[in-house]
Amino acid sequence: MTTTTSTTTTASASDSAPLPEGLPPGPRTPAPFQLLGLLTRGRPFLRRNQERYGDLFTLRLTTLGTWVFPGTTDLIRTAFTAPADVLHTGESNLLEPILGPYSLLSTDRDQHLRQRRLLLPPFHGARMKAYEQLIEDITREEIAKWPVGEEFPVVPSTMKITLRAILGAVFGAEGATMQRLEELLPELVERGSRMSMVPYLHYDLGRFSPWGRFVRLRREVDATLDTLIDEARRDPDVAERGDVLALLVQARYDDGEPMGNHEIRDQLVTMLAAGHETTANTLGWAVERLTRHPEVLARVVQAVDEGDSEYLAATVREIQRVRPVIMFTTRLVKQPFELGGYVLPPGTRIALGGAITHYDERLFPNARELRPERFVGVKPGTYSWLPFGGGVRRCIGAAFAHMEMEVVLRTMLETYELIPTTDRPERMAFRGVAHAPGRGGRVTVRPRASAPAAASVVRETATA
Ligand code: HEM
Repeated sequence: MTTTTSTTTTASASDSAPLPEGLPPGPRTPAPFQLLGLLTRGRPFLRRNQERYGDLFTLRLTTLGTWVFPGTTDLIRTAFTAPADVLHTGESNLLEPILGPYSLLSTDRDQHLRQRRLLLPPFHGARMKAYEQLIEDITREEIAKWPVGEEFPVVPSTMKITLRAILGAVFGAEGATMQRLEELLPELVERGSRMSMVPYLHYDLGRFSPWGRFVRLRREVDATLDTLIDEARRDPDVAERGDVLALLVQARYDDGEPMGNHEIRDQLVTMLAAGHETTANTLGWAVERLTRHPEVLARVVQAVDEGDSEYLAATVREIQRVRPVIMFTTRLVKQPFELGGYVLPPGTRIALGGAITHYDERLFPNARELRPERFVGVKPGTYSWLPFGGGVRRCIGAAFAHMEMEVVLRTMLETYELIPTTDRPERMAFRGVAHAPGRGGRVTVRPRASAPAAASVVRETATA
């Protein structure tokens, strides 16, 4: 493309002559084959293109459009710190019809910032300690049901733990409401992520049509959430409560307005969709990876027994590096945007994520090895370690997810011995929201011979 523009936006504004609009190099194979390559071969396909075309390359992906993949921290920083009116995120979110128009994942610019300001404080790292006991109790109850000495897939179990953790700590749900939401919400997210792939089927043709069933399910979820929200608004002790919903009903925008029920509902469903399967599958990967790396498993068990929270936190970070459940997040170019010497035209998507950086030897030496030590005493790089995305859209639940994963993993390792295996690695299978271990993270456990002293050791979780 050779058209020029005088309105390019760069992260480092320069007075020099505008660059020609254009796209970085990429394969010339027909777009359907490029899409097929990405979907079927994933990371190796991206690596081959990076080796061939450099640290900024373009793929043309049928139906998904033109995507540009930056591979250096400088390029990634430029994209993550671009002004919110130049690169949009919410607009390109396929889940909008599912999560609702107020979802933090669906909005952009001022509306997004206004909402994010209200949603961030409940997830501040310092508040996370309050949820640890709840999550430990949920974990103990669930893992007590594990079959001993028999192989089983761990992900269905971690799914139950992370669902209950969000319903308890975020929604403040209990008793019958908790039970009802436990039945409704997984189905809503599962149906929703399937329906997001087929926008042309979004017509309500009655309760037996796919979209009709989804709409009715969402209505039922909304009615249950309304009850929960109204109860929180009427609760005279709401100020004493620690759950996120309690904080949201008390929060006020700059103009003094509270959030309406419709907004809170969309945000709760969003947090569930964003935080349930992602956390559960990362835990599944932790089990899958650790049972294939007995030396790391032994070291992390020792850390748990000694109350060494830093090694445990480093292990979770390293699992997220080698198995990022979300490969990349995207930004949609709204105004010509300069990146790495190219001016990307509006309509281009920029893909940012661990699918490329996490396996780069320049950023993570011996990248193929599982080495938690690389994060001991070292903060992960903001623009190289990307499981939670970055910039003003970075995951608001990162500290919550880390606290949760550390508590769950610690409780598992205190209770059971995970038996190492020489089985082949499980493949990464895309399950609508996250990349899951293909066989569900199969594992065999036996009770620990002696109860560790760690239960009484001072416990601290590091925040992501
Ligand atoms: C291991 C677990 C998790 C992973 C891997 C993960 C990953 C991500 C990623 C990649 C993004 C997109 C960031 C971007 O575009 O730059 C995101 C956004 C988000 N996540 Fe998470 N997430 C996790 C857990 C959670 C939890 C537990 C919650 C809430 C309870 C949550 C709530 C959100 C929300 C609301 C957003 C939208 C932020 C915005 O657009 O401003 N996530 N997450």
